[in-house]
Amino acid sequence: MDAKNVKKALVVGAGVMGHSIAQVFAQAGIEVSLVDLNEKILEHATNLIKSNLSILAEFKRVPRKEISTILRRIHPTTSLAEGAQGADFAIEVVSEVAEVKKKVFAQLDELCPEDIVLASNTSGLDIFSIAEVKKPARLIITHWFAPPHIIPLVEVVPGPKTSGDVVAFAKELMERLGKRPIVLREFVRSFIVNRIQNQISLAVLEILEKGWATPTEIDLAVKSSLGIRLPIVGVVQTYDFTGLDLVLDIMKSYGVSHPIFEEKVKKGHLGAKTSKGFYDYGGRSEEEILKKRDRLYLKMLDYLEKINAFEPI
Ligand SMILES: NC(=O)c1ccc[n+]([C@@H]2O[C@H](COP(=O)([O-])OP(=O)(O)OC[C@H]3O[C@@H](n4cnc5c(N)ncnc54)[C@H](O)[C@@H]3O)[C@@H](O)[C@H]2O)c1
Repeated sequence: MDAKNVKKALVVGAGVMGHSIAQVFAQAGIEVSLVDLNEKILEHATNLIKSNLSILAEFKRVPRKEISTILRRIHPTTSLAEGAQGADFAIEVVSEVAEVKKKVFAQLDELCPEDIVLASNTSGLDIFSIAEVKKPARLIITHWFAPPHIIPLVEVVPGPKTSGDVVAFAKELMERLGKRPIVLREFVRSFIVNRIQNQISLAVLEILEKGWATPTEIDLAVKSSLGIRLPIVGVVQTYDFTGLDLVLDIMKSYGVSHPIFEEKVKKGHLGAKTSKGFYDYGGRSEEEILKKRDRLYLKMLDYLEKINAFEPI
């Protein structure tokens, strides 16, 4: 099982995610069968792919002269059996309904040879309990982000029986597609990003419900703060710049604490100001670290202002 040898992929489900995932395979030079329930959906999917490729060409992410070659690699069909023929990798991107996924996996298990990896794009279903396949070692989640032809992240999530080879294969395949895979250690519902996003959603709903701020004010507040910082420092490194001692004090003022912070503060790992926190800054001075951060923040701010990002779309 070698990601370099994948010549043909099978994508089941041609909706919001599936059409674009199929496109990414085709862009990487891989033949791909795109399966859905009827011709109308497949026709719509093909039109969306053409439109996606045209935008990518506009931004020079795809040479315009290659579009027709890429399109020729995509083979839409309503027959799963036909689509599965000769596939070296299969991913289901069907509706987020356990029964639907279960049925598709049962079919894939019959149609795809045993050494073919079967992946799911579920947003959080425990596919490893839902899918009944003869060899659970070949099951894995590759969770893409919309729109897949633009967003680099794919969360790779192994189940309790997924083999190490399958994890390595999935990671390599995503890299071959030009994606940025992050491998979770084990299955946990909502993975990384949706887990974080769900907490944000709960907070937003509370603010709206209580009438503390309007939708426009919330978005402007987030875009004018987190929106500038997140692309540069993510969510964990942010603590290093706040100062882990301060974060702990803030927690305590709410009557809570956390062993991760207590331990780091006890060791004197307070973040950028001690050159060590969640990240190790290799002994660089605080001044040096902050200068590097601030150059990036200023570039980001300049760019966001230039593209009018603080105005609603
Ligand atoms: N939409 C997102 O932003 C997003 C992001 C990440 C993951 N996901 C996950 O991706 C999966 C698909 O989501 P979506 O937004 O593309 O949904 P969608 O409803 O747009 O597409 C699902 C497609 O699956 C097809 N389908 C259903 N049963 C089928 C079957 N038996 N055989 C073949 N095709 C079948 C449907 O006709 C439909 O076209 C879900 O598991 C979802 O949770 C979605």
